[in-house]
Amino acid sequence: MPSSSGPAIENLYSEQRTFPPPADFAERATIGDPAVYDEAEQDVEAWWASHAGALRWTKPWDTICQWDPPFARWFDGGQLNVSDNCVDRHIDDGHGSQVAYYWEGEPGDTREITYHQLRDEVCRFANALKDLGVAKGDRVNIYLPMIPELPVAMLACARIGAIHSVVFAGFSSQSLVDRIEDADAHVLITADGAYRKGNVVPLKESADRAMSSTDKVTTCVVVRRTGDDVEMTEGRDHFYDDVVDGQSAECPPEPMDAEDVLYILYTSGTTGKPKGIVHTTGGYLTQVAATHRLVFDLKPDTDVYWCAADIGWVTGHSYIVYGPLANRATSIMYEGAPDHPGKDRFWEIVDRYKATILYTAPTAIRAFMKWGAELPAKHDLSSLRLLGTVGEPINPEAWMWYHEHIGGGTAPVVDTWWQTETGAIMITPLPGVTASKPGSAMTAFPGIRAVVVDEQGEAVAPGGGGYLTLQRPWPAMLRTIWGDEERYRDTYWSRFGPDIYFAGDGAKLDDDGHVWLLGRVDDVMNISGHRISTTEVESALVDHPKVAEAAVTGRADEMTGQAIAAFVTLRSGEDPSDELAAQLREHVAERIGKIARPANVLFTEDLPKTRSGKIMRRLLKDIAEGRELGDVTTLANADIVDEIKTRSDSAKAEEQ
Ligand code: WTA
Repeated sequence: MPSSSGPAIENLYSEQRTFPPPADFAERATIGDPAVYDEAEQDVEAWWASHAGALRWTKPWDTICQWDPPFARWFDGGQLNVSDNCVDRHIDDGHGSQVAYYWEGEPGDTREITYHQLRDEVCRFANALKDLGVAKGDRVNIYLPMIPELPVAMLACARIGAIHSVVFAGFSSQSLVDRIEDADAHVLITADGAYRKGNVVPLKESADRAMSSTDKVTTCVVVRRTGDDVEMTEGRDHFYDDVVDGQSAECPPEPMDAEDVLYILYTSGTTGKPKGIVHTTGGYLTQVAATHRLVFDLKPDTDVYWCAADIGWVTGHSYIVYGPLANRATSIMYEGAPDHPGKDRFWEIVDRYKATILYTAPTAIRAFMKWGAELPAKHDLSSLRLLGTVGEPINPEAWMWYHEHIGGGTAPVVDTWWQTETGAIMITPLPGVTASKPGSAMTAFPGIRAVVVDEQGEAVAPGGGGYLTLQRPWPAMLRTIWGDEERYRDTYWSRFGPDIYFAGDGAKLDDDGHVWLLGRVDDVMNISGHRISTTEVESALVDHPKVAEAAVTGRADEMTGQAIAAFVTLRSGEDPSDELAAQLREHVAERIGKIARPANVLFTEDLPKTRSGKIMRRLLKDIAEGRELGDVTTLANADIVDEIKTRSDSAKAEEQ
């Protein structure tokens, strides 16, 4: 946390390019008129109620929002069922034969699942869960790869009122144990194995290790994905096919109170045990459906929508499962890695299913940049009409590359800011309205009040920087941290007061008042008394034609307080050299000012990343400051850390 008397974040990077929606896009967009922002402001509750009203309620709500900071209740008194809204409602409206998911496995196998088939599967599995003793309010752990049984399991839980806790299949057995114990879950749904980059990941083995270190799990359901032999413990383990076989395809949806818990999803805090973020039923579904429909301009009859995230993260919960299904979307769901068997797998998929909307992360986009524009150019991507990004600040050059090479220079790009805690998109362009600037998430979604404040909590003026806060409750907001109300208050509602949500992200407003996210506040550097965001320096580095990806961190420096250490991955075919390092330092100095010139540049083949693709800057900081490194086993690519450390240490030795 920066000291309380420091200056505001320096506003260094100034973006001049804007991309208004193409005329034909704006004309056909669900929202093509900026008046929607004022309408929502005039009566925020009516705005959200209008979206809630599009869902099927079995009992109407009494109140729209009750706000007893920091606790909100939305649509209290109302009842609905999420699986009924995501599946049955569309069948009742005559759309049962519409495809819900075009699923593609990594080895190339495919499945097409209509809404009708989805309902049958969900009901059968819901009945099986009931037979296995799962009751309303019970927690069910789901540890599955990206196979159709994953959304089926989530919806089956929702149908009977069980609370799911999905654990990303790339997590270790220890992470699974922590989450099982914290949620006190007695049922675990997993698979024999998962395909990843052509290999089989033995998921059941990992689940077995977890179950041997906790005695919580009494029932384990195993989906057969790879068909490999797995150990089955008598009385505890059951194959999915066996428990579903013979079950009725009818299972009446349990009426749920709007504020009943739908799911828990754990986010790894930088310190301490993971936080179980709690989401409830009515408000959550309202906001994920509204944002999915309006931010992606979804036309359910014609669009083929692809969110290329993993359902193990919140992006997949909200924008592969609940939002799209609530809106009767036809989605693509892909099991595997973007570079298997070739580095053009995504573009093959876009072309095969004629995807019209693609939603992915900046880290993926930078990988595509690194692999080269000739790969997407080999495929027909002309079906794409809208692109989205989420997960971290997108460097303007990556935005431009995405726009040009994937979006054909015409598809609008929506840079969407939100968090596991917010449940749904909060800051984003509206594609038929907003003239976007590459790198900016632009504007709060209608009805959302996002305010950038200084140390004292005062709103900053355009041109200023500080901390992102949310100053009004929103329907999909987290309700608490599972089992830890105090941590909920401390983490989010104490920095600026009990009714101001502290997002933990740095942000600035440009001169037009548009929002630029600057990364987590602990990523802010202080160079000679100037606070400089890692994101801005990284964007300046990635702006150089030879650079594919960059991470910077502040390391302690006697002269300047902190100095900037840069870690750079070059594009294919480019070679590292001292000359190039010098050029890059100059490039940053030119692009955003001498104050931001990195003290040193270290070239590396890859950057240490979490399994969700976020660059681990803290680790880079430890390397840059020559500290011993802690546990790196949660990284997606732990090996690279040793390599970077060795290079960094030898570079330092040379300096001396
Ligand atoms: C970051 C992912 C800049 C931010 C949905 C946030 C972003 C954290 C953006 C939440 C964006 C997400 N621009 N930063 N468009 N989207 N972030 O919980 O730091 O996995 O606090 O949720 O990702 O990550 P989470």
